[in-house]
Amino acid sequence: MAAAVQADTGVHRAQPHASNAAATQQAWWKHAVIYEIYPRSFQDSNGDGIGDLNGIAQRLDYLQTLGVDAIWIAPMYPSPQVDFGYDISDYESVDAQYGTLADFDQLLAEAKRHNIRIILDMVLNHTSDKHQWFLEAARSRGSDKHGYYMWNDGKTGAPGEHLPPNNWVSLFGGSAWQYVPAVNQFYYHKFYKQQPDLNWRTAAVENAMFASMRFWLDRGVAGFRLDAITTLFEDPQLRDEPPLGGTNAQGDPILQEIYTNNLPEVHGVIRRMRAMVDRYPGERVLVGETYLPSTAELDKWYGGARHDELQLPMDMLVGFANKLDVNTFRQRLSEVQMQVHGSQPLLVFDNHDNVRSWDRYGDGAHNAQIAKLIATLLLTSRGAALLYQGEEIGQPTTIPRRVEDVRDPIGITGWPKEKGRDGERTPMQWDTSNAQAGFSTNPKTWLPVPNNYRTINVQSELADPASILNWHRKLIALRRSSAALRDGSMVMLDQQNADVLSYARVSPSGGATVVSLNMSAAPQTISLDLKTAGVKDSALTTLLASPSPISESGPAHRITLPPFAAWVAASQ
Ligand code: GLC
Ligand code: CA
Repeated sequence: MAAAVQADTGVHRAQPHASNAAATQQAWWKHAVIYEIYPRSFQDSNGDGIGDLNGIAQRLDYLQTLGVDAIWIAPMYPSPQVDFGYDISDYESVDAQYGTLADFDQLLAEAKRHNIRIILDMVLNHTSDKHQWFLEAARSRGSDKHGYYMWNDGKTGAPGEHLPPNNWVSLFGGSAWQYVPAVNQFYYHKFYKQQPDLNWRTAAVENAMFASMRFWLDRGVAGFRLDAITTLFEDPQLRDEPPLGGTNAQGDPILQEIYTNNLPEVHGVIRRMRAMVDRYPGERVLVGETYLPSTAELDKWYGGARHDELQLPMDMLVGFANKLDVNTFRQRLSEVQMQVHGSQPLLVFDNHDNVRSWDRYGDGAHNAQIAKLIATLLLTSRGAALLYQGEEIGQPTTIPRRVEDVRDPIGITGWPKEKGRDGERTPMQWDTSNAQAGFSTNPKTWLPVPNNYRTINVQSELADPASILNWHRKLIALRRSSAALRDGSMVMLDQQNADVLSYARVSPSGGATVVSLNMSAAPQTISLDLKTAGVKDSALTTLLASPSPISESGPAHRITLPPFAAWVAASQ
């Protein structure tokens, strides 16, 4: 039996023609292509070598041509930039190096004219240690902001010795506890010590953070990507986490994060947040940074059968499988179709925290073709899709060679085992107009522009019909225009095949789009039994093929796919 998976059966099912526009408008995020912008590295408009909001505005035409529905902008709020914006000192303003609040409003208006929504990054787990709240909290135990953070007296050691209360480690290295002499206490930080964790058991914290979210919702943002959202709560008893044995790249013991990550209390916050967001018109959306061990855990972030939490928690299991393996993809794709109570998956292969998919999935010989295959998987599966700037042109990861060139602090503390995240944050490669690839007029950009910009850049790829960029453009245009790709269910085909992943997207009206992806370095001949899979059987016509041409020959849909080929076809 085919793993037939029902598409969203809910109220938004469009009648193929008449009400399409209205239905798409209503649940725009269900089929959205969301494009992540790392603002430091996208476009510099004022020649300081750092990208900015006006730079994003200059590139809206490009984003519209690509076909994106929304951009998610990584934090652009005032920040000491220890974690490049993920350490926020003021949640209701814009950092001067990125522009002004007026620039932001202008960008929002310009984006709207390009039919592009803006999703902001919201960092709720922690603030900067330079945030006014923390400055006050760290000054005195009597401060009314003291309880906004996670304080503890620690353990008693030898006289004058200050020992942290437990074995918790920071994801960015070292103990997660930092001693502050002024209050004679430790505070907890899951990330850098400049990122003290907020205490979400304090109602005032929730009220204040929700008010900051409303500040942006009132201005017209389309929603939020919730940073590190699984880490809001910690065990009130501060129990030690069990060691799993061994040490990580930072040299710390590897712990099972049962008391500092994914605690159930967070769901109450998320439900209240969703209710708040739902009071706004226009289907504002909550996207979650949800690295989770299983699809069953992911389902909880949607609110399970109640559907009252995040609309789009990120599925990291598909995109970060990190192995071009048909069986793994087939299983994980099927799971997220079947085990989330009909919620909409959000697939993602790339972001500003991980080695790019180009390098994680590339075999060194066929990377460009593999990048097209990955794009096809991402953009023809049922669900919303995330793209990260540069992914659409096949921008590779460029890791610094010398520790003195590293900008990301975890690469400095972790060198040479952990080289940090600079590699996936190098500037966007636009053109060959200057040695900065058109990113900046300043020869000193905050991270260097890799030399491969001469061939890998937007301008050259727009001119090449066979480029990775034009492949993305065609796929996005197709997913917009095809009822099967938009609203169709996802049915796995040829399920015993360990080299080729094949599936059909079957539209409510019965039409189907068939996708076959050869994940091997050898040509593969497959035969697709549409009828047994419950898909209306008819001849298949190629919609997109790379390398091209690919077509069926003879009966029973016999298709020969070159190495790493991607084929998208329509049944009539
Ligand atoms: C998220 C961000 C990452 C940041 C961390 C702490 O994982 O994506 O860049 O360092 O949270 O805010
Ligand atoms: Ca700038």
